[in-house]
Amino acid sequence: MGPIGIFDSGYGGLTVLAKIKNALPNFDYLYLGDNARAPYGNRSFDVVHEFTWQAVQFLFSQGCPLIILACNTASAKALRTIQQTQLPLFFPDRRVLGVIRPSTESIGEWTKSNHVGILGTQGTIQSNSYVIELKKFAPHIKVFQHACPMWVPLIENNYHESLAGNEIIADDIRNLLKMSEKIDTIVLACTHYPLIEQQISRIVGPSVRVISQGEIVASKLEEYLKKHPKITAETSKKGNTRYFTTEHPSVFNDKASLFLGEQVLASQVHL
Ligand code: DGL
Repeated sequence: MGPIGIFDSGYGGLTVLAKIKNALPNFDYLYLGDNARAPYGNRSFDVVHEFTWQAVQFLFSQGCPLIILACNTASAKALRTIQQTQLPLFFPDRRVLGVIRPSTESIGEWTKSNHVGILGTQGTIQSNSYVIELKKFAPHIKVFQHACPMWVPLIENNYHESLAGNEIIADDIRNLLKMSEKIDTIVLACTHYPLIEQQISRIVGPSVRVISQGEIVASKLEEYLKKHPKITAETSKKGNTRYFTTEHPSVFNDKASLFLGEQVLASQVHL
């Protein structure tokens, strides 16, 4: 028996954790942020995979039977290899899930024009994962993608609302919306972006719907747990959450507490 592991390169996964905790308050959670090595967005495929696998092994060593990669970049670049090659070899009874599949399964429900914009890190956009996955569930939807390499550093450094930060964000959004005037839905395909959702909505205006992934991932996890009673039986349920970071905890605690609206006391781990 162990907690559900939630992993992100930094603080972004907290936006997913918050929604998961709302939906499934009785479970135990273990959050790991690789803050010392964030952002992952511009890193190579191999490096993102290596870091993510280290994180997964750490969470397994803490007893997690199930891990959610609450990070699009890791889901895009590491999940498939972990699921198809490493889990069957080293941890055949444990599970690792990502955030891209649940999102692409739901996109068809939101758009009327069938023109959807995706904003994400360089890694997520270059991997083409959203286009590939969407083809399976909603091949009629036209996808327009734009990478926002500066957003995670702006958010992690609390610089997004500065004049320069706001201009960078607005410029990226304009570049996406320029691709098709029919875009009626924008998916925030990076778990950091919900932290600035209001700012993004202000820039895009009322005619475009901005979708964050947290609630979608939470409801898909609920479904998953119902369908997989063996994994569910292996998850501990005392309603506790513990936090680990690769940074110094004092750095993590302040920001994480702000984002989550509750006090966070993390422990440091070296992966
Ligand atoms: N929050 C992450 C994502 O969803 C990672 C951002 C980063 O580290 O660049 O992609």
